[in-house]
Amino acid sequence: MKDKIARIKENIEKSLQEIKTGKELYELKVNYLIGKMSEIPSLMKELGKADKDERPKLGQMINGLKDWATEVIAEKEKAIAEIERRARYEAETIDITMPAKKREEGSLHPVTVIKNELVEIFSGMGFMVMETREIEDDFHNFTALNTPKEHPARDKQDTFYISDDLMLRTHTSPGQIHALKTLKPPFKVIVPGRVYRADDDATHSPMFHQMEGLAIDKKVSLCDLQGMLDVLVKKMFSSNVKTRFRPSFFPFTEPSVEVDVSCFECGGKGCKLCKGTGWIEILGGGIVNRKVIENCGLDPDEYTGFAFGFGLDRIAMLKYGINNIHILYEGDVRALKQFKIL
Ligand code: PHE
Repeated sequence: MKDKIARIKENIEKSLQEIKTGKELYELKVNYLIGKMSEIPSLMKELGKADKDERPKLGQMINGLKDWATEVIAEKEKAIAEIERRARYEAETIDITMPAKKREEGSLHPVTVIKNELVEIFSGMGFMVMETREIEDDFHNFTALNTPKEHPARDKQDTFYISDDLMLRTHTSPGQIHALKTLKPPFKVIVPGRVYRADDDATHSPMFHQMEGLAIDKKVSLCDLQGMLDVLVKKMFSSNVKTRFRPSFFPFTEPSVEVDVSCFECGGKGCKLCKGTGWIEILGGGIVNRKVIENCGLDPDEYTGFAFGFGLDRIAMLKYGINNIHILYEGDVRALKQFKIL
């Protein structure tokens, strides 16, 4: 039995030298210390067979072996845990001198920036924002807006038709009809959105953006429109910009005007931007035609209003010095990055 004890000790010592992982160490523990059939507890069971005289001595030796084995295994456990921890730390090390991954930062599209700015300004003047549909019927896009059947605006070369009655809206003015039919006067509303025309050159894109404005109340005059626009252009461009009205024609306004702002680039002296005239055209508008009010079921003797509409792309191009509208829609980030306005 003494030999056996010595052999077990020797074997444990040998194994411990070879063991490198926690799993191997656990197997050793099961084989010698804690397993049901493991070596050291089995020695205890065999003790009964030994000579009575020798039992106390052997018992002491077995206990000594057990204590020793428990201790050396615990030590080895600690050592292995430390090695494994180091290995894990090493694997997780971050090299802070490595170049970081570049994160591309986006920005708002110039047209969105202009739209947001205008929504902000108009909201401050009491206008509500309404968005209406992009596919319109003949009534909303033309007829209700007093645009008769033979009007050139209906030309198939300008309008993208979907069927005889349906088309992509050619302007945001149908928003006027939706507003007049759903809102209770007095009201002030703006309708921003996409519009479509079969037109394509440096300053025209088949899809572009407009913003419509409509104010309905009793006794509205052109002075109200001009007063409102004066405030608008000062906020939009700069505080010394002035407006100028020129007579014009739209079927849905009477009288109709075209509105110019004094050139915000040269202050009115004449430059490349204003083509030497000192003025830049920015919008069409006028007093809502009686027929439009009538077409929407309101009494034109009671209610009057002003309406206006302008191109958001054009304003963006003027403001950021973009000379080709397609730059806005080609999605070339090298171009758009230059207008990182936010
Ligand atoms: N709808 C017109 C256009 O697209 C602009 C406009 C709107 C004119 C409202 C007058 C009143 O050119």
